[in-house]
Amino acid sequence: MRNINEDTITQAVLASMEQCHNPRLRTIMTSLVQHLHSFARDVKLTEDEWFSAIKFLTDVGHITDDARQEFILLSDVLGLSTLVTAQNNVKPAGCTEATVFGPFFIEDAPEYPLGADISNGACGEPCFVSGRVMSTDGTPLAGVTVDVWQSDEDGYYDVQRPPTAPGEHVHRARGKLTTDSEGRYYFKSILAQPYPIPHDGPVGAMLEALGRHPWRPAHLHYMLSAPGHERLITHVFRDNDQYLDSDAVFGVRSTLISDWVRHDEGTAPDGTTMDRPFHTLKYDFVLNPA
Ligand code: BEZ
Ligand code: FE
Repeated sequence: MRNINEDTITQAVLASMEQCHNPRLRTIMTSLVQHLHSFARDVKLTEDEWFSAIKFLTDVGHITDDARQEFILLSDVLGLSTLVTAQNNVKPAGCTEATVFGPFFIEDAPEYPLGADISNGACGEPCFVSGRVMSTDGTPLAGVTVDVWQSDEDGYYDVQRPPTAPGEHVHRARGKLTTDSEGRYYFKSILAQPYPIPHDGPVGAMLEALGRHPWRPAHLHYMLSAPGHERLITHVFRDNDQYLDSDAVFGVRSTLISDWVRHDEGTAPDGTTMDRPFHTLKYDFVLNPA
């Protein structure tokens, strides 16, 4: 294998992988190399441009740590996360649609009883959220783990706030609940607001260079896990948000947009008296049997 040139390099790399014993890895790497080489030929990539790309990816790596996942952001703003989510979540009509996961989920969110205030002091206008979880035949699903997480009024998730000790955050506006015997879930939190994805790093610079904004429409994240059903990762969006048609990460689905109703002070759904305006959101989910 000598004197490889512009015309023979692709075939040479593909041939070098012929001994790979993992068929899926070989399929993926063969296609990746073919597409990468086609891309470089197509745009006639210069050496300076190639080096800028290496520097960009190096910067993405350097800014990434346990609290900041710049590679997920990159995948999100390039639409790759939405593409992978969409092609792996084809569901029968009537099922709730999935959307992007995002980088702010944590495994060990606090567990709360139904009706609890999961805001735990996060800033924002009060919001009472409720709904039911059902199977495709309408059967209510009891015992479903409902993981929810959202940003506060300032547009920050708890994990973006300064830690109380290295790697430790007070968990605010996130929690795990369990549906009751009729498939119901309900909790108190705060009103979600639009927020910009972290844009002080290389991905933000790329958006700026492309003339794009970093904003996401207001939403509440859900992960629903029920025995015998496919896990659902999705959001519910606030109707009339100015960014619904230009979400920086391409995550909006019409079926996931809901009316978050504003109420003047008075009696809240949990029977308490509110001395300030509050909001309510009702959203039901239909899970796909596994
Ligand atoms: C989020 O909704 O939390 C999110 C999704 C993609 C990129 C950044 C944030
Ligand atoms: Fe989010």
